[in-house]
Amino acid sequence: MVGVHPAWLPASAFRSIGARRVRVVGDGPVVATVRGEVETAVAGHGGALVDDGPVDLELVCAPDDGEADPEAFVVGRAGSTTVVRAIDGVGLLYGFHHVVRLGEAAFTGAAEDRRHAPRLPVRMLDHWDNVDVHPVMGQVERGYAGGSIFYADGAVRADLSRARAYARLLGSIGVNRVCLNNVNVHRTEARLLTDLLPDVARLAEVFRPHGIRVHLSVSFAAPMTLGGLPTADPLDPAVRDWWARTSAEVYAAIPDFGGYVVKADSEGSPGPFAYGRDHAEGANALARALAPFGGTVFWRAFVYNHRQDWRDRKTDRARAAHDHFAPLDGSFDANVVVQVKSGPVDFQVREPLSPVIAAMPRTRLAVEFQVTQEYTGQQKHVCHLVPQWHEVLGFQPWGEEGPTVADIAGGRAGAPAGGVVAVSNVGDDPFWTGHPLAQANLFGFGRLAWDDRLTPEAVLDEWIGLTFPGDPAVREALHDIMDGSWLTYERYTAPLGVGWMVNPAGHYGPSVDGYEYSPWGTYHFADRDGVGVDRTRSTGTGFTGQFPAPWRDVYESVETCPDELLLFFHHVPYDHVLHSGKTVVQHIYDSHFAGCEEVSRMVETWARLEGRVPPEVFERVTALLQEQTRCAAEWRDQVNTYFWRKSGVPDARGRTIH
Ligand code: GCU
Repeated sequence: MVGVHPAWLPASAFRSIGARRVRVVGDGPVVATVRGEVETAVAGHGGALVDDGPVDLELVCAPDDGEADPEAFVVGRAGSTTVVRAIDGVGLLYGFHHVVRLGEAAFTGAAEDRRHAPRLPVRMLDHWDNVDVHPVMGQVERGYAGGSIFYADGAVRADLSRARAYARLLGSIGVNRVCLNNVNVHRTEARLLTDLLPDVARLAEVFRPHGIRVHLSVSFAAPMTLGGLPTADPLDPAVRDWWARTSAEVYAAIPDFGGYVVKADSEGSPGPFAYGRDHAEGANALARALAPFGGTVFWRAFVYNHRQDWRDRKTDRARAAHDHFAPLDGSFDANVVVQVKSGPVDFQVREPLSPVIAAMPRTRLAVEFQVTQEYTGQQKHVCHLVPQWHEVLGFQPWGEEGPTVADIAGGRAGAPAGGVVAVSNVGDDPFWTGHPLAQANLFGFGRLAWDDRLTPEAVLDEWIGLTFPGDPAVREALHDIMDGSWLTYERYTAPLGVGWMVNPAGHYGPSVDGYEYSPWGTYHFADRDGVGVDRTRSTGTGFTGQFPAPWRDVYESVETCPDELLLFFHHVPYDHVLHSGKTVVQHIYDSHFAGCEEVSRMVETWARLEGRVPPEVFERVTALLQEQTRCAAEWRDQVNTYFWRKSGVPDARGRTIH
């Protein structure tokens, strides 16, 4: 491989379009992107970009078409011509890539017009990139794919070709906002808002032709640290004035700037609590500075006490976001989106839904996921996360008759839409994502954010078809390896929803008691009799009560609580019998052996692809599967041994537990 991997946009992906006669009608920077794509495609595959005469594909940007959504497009056929129409360049770009994904089918399919529009209007990637290299976190916090593609040597890169290629990839999957810097805003990064702003404008130029607006993470203390004021109190007129002036300058440089992302009063970051203000007062102060320019504040709900005493059994980290935010429903300005992690704790392999998402019907909410695999194998393990996100977005907090999480975030269940946000998984690695198969998570995030009803298998199938075209054996093998890989990862790591059990330093690999006596509020409470966290209303922390019916009752009772979340909600004895018919301890043993066996099968399946995928991909994945095998065995053995020692219950099948 020379240079950077093309990911899901290799030249071959454009064959069907490139071999045809194509016309592009319309103006503007994003239409120009579409025209450029067509030019490259036809140059590579023998077709032609023409202005007149009959064509096979017509891509029309017609502002007067009567469509309301600039991101929507209509695809149909007029005679033998496939026609894509949109009212805006961005809709046309999405329509173009829809045709790319369809391949030949776009030219042979049904004739009737079909309208496509995103279900979630905000589809955003947050980069946890630092300009400088942080002494502990490196350049990209929780990044597993090398350094930042935006920054080098303490500044925005002079050469932004990599960022340009990234913007193109994101545009092709419908991502429409990118936050350029880490939610933990350090000293240099804070200055992106002020003296480094011209460089941010250069990045905005890179993203603009792909329909993507840029955001910055800002520090709540910026009026003090950058502005020299004695306070950052959100109700102080001088503070408000500072935000207003600073925001005006940002918009003077970047007229389509998206707005701010704010992590406040969270894990030590500054916030409104220091001034006795609440989070609505904090968020609204920034929102008012952005409002005249159409900007939005994404205000994170990740607020909890990270200096907990493990002896204190009452404080429950899972409760924290709801305790802080639910009472504020209705008090956020219209241009504030409260950004809520999908689970109540922190991107574990399995968590229930964050109850905040069902508790703020008058607030715009965005659901936050991690594409970066902080707790799911750090892009050393195959862990296809699209099934997890699909499950979350399809979850119905009020039961089967009610709206889904995607309905709430998409503005179909109360407040106007917030959206869906995820932490990006790319870096300057030649494969973008460290693990080449982790590209599928990035692709899948965009596709699912566009339409949460797509099945994970269908999304993966699109990715395989584009990335590894034309070989059914590769397609089948990748489905075998990836479709169930999230559940495989779950099987060999922390059991039954209890979470954590990771090494506190770095969050990779097992350490069953690593967090048990720590201040972070992430415990499993295993003793000689049982394991799990009692979060019930009757005897525990009361967290179940933050859910609406039916879930508050489903989770409250061990009888009805789903097995996969049992230890998140309940402390049970080791011989408690699951719905599966197994005892908890036998489930722990069985699932850990099974998870490792599944990894062995992945290795065998992948080995059969030698010669069928590019050699550099083959080698990288082969090496990483070795590491996954090692690490999964370590998880299996540490977890099994731990519970055998605690419980004294032997494995019913007599396998080796050390
Ligand atoms: C996790 C992660 C941190 C990150 C934080 C956040 O705790 O480990 O690195 O800063 O989430 O989402 O703000």
